[in-house]
Amino acid sequence: MIASRLLPLALSLLVGSGLCSLSAQQTKEATATKSTRVEDPKQHAYEGAARYPFRANSEYIFKELDLEAGDVVVDIGAGDGWWSERLAELVGEKGRVLAAEVKQDLVDEMAKEYEDTPQIEPYLCPFDSTGLEEDEVDLAFFAQSFHHIEKDARVEYLKDLKKVIRPTGRICIIEKHSDIATRSADHGSFPSHLAKLAEEAGWVLVRYELMPKTYHFLTVFVQEELFPAEPEGRGRNGRRGRRRDRED
Ligand SMILES: C[S@@+](CC[C@H](N)C(=O)[O-])C[C@H]1O[C@@H](n2cnc3c(N)ncnc32)[C@H](O)[C@@H]1O
Repeated sequence: MIASRLLPLALSLLVGSGLCSLSAQQTKEATATKSTRVEDPKQHAYEGAARYPFRANSEYIFKELDLEAGDVVVDIGAGDGWWSERLAELVGEKGRVLAAEVKQDLVDEMAKEYEDTPQIEPYLCPFDSTGLEEDEVDLAFFAQSFHHIEKDARVEYLKDLKKVIRPTGRICIIEKHSDIATRSADHGSFPSHLAKLAEEAGWVLVRYELMPKTYHFLTVFVQEELFPAEPEGRGRNGRRGRRRDRED
């Protein structure tokens, strides 16, 4: 099954590299296993895309984030550092990108890869928090890593971020949309559920976007303290309730 799916790809790579030439009959046999005819709207979604198709939208994501030189970002679940590298360009030499990873080998690889980029600081983080100091960062950035946090520990994790992130700081979470992903949907999140968890931890959703041509969505949260409490006796639209009006 897997071999039959990989064969056309392997052959096309060989032909593309000039290492092999195919007769018309051979080509037909090689590609006959999988038609390009669209039977299911989602069938080609992953065929032409890289492993992380949302990376193609990094420009769009960074525009949304509007980072400034000197900002401090924690890239949680930094992996190979692909996002940290780009975040480092935006925050510049005066900024910092704390590349948090739970796997020592990835931390070591990033340390080696980015030894000439001092604003990238790879470090081994605990599983249940960033392990950072109070008011240390402007942005906590999760690219397909939030679902790795233990289910029952997510609210506590987000509460801890309230301490680590400055009062005007933000959280950005990019996840695969579990409702629409055709593959590995369990390695994703439901946006409404995520917003609820964040709200429970004291964060307010200020941006939610489905990212074009991917199964990913982007969310940005800010601290609830930025929203002043409603003055007593006033409704959401700022007017007093009807009954009070009549009493006046
Ligand atoms: C799917 S990868 C995403 C890597 C990277 N953010 C990217 O988009 O290329 C998820 C990463 O999160 C890391 N991870 C898993 N649990 C974590 C946790 N509790 N805290 C921080 N990182 C974690 C994994 O080791 C892995 O590198």
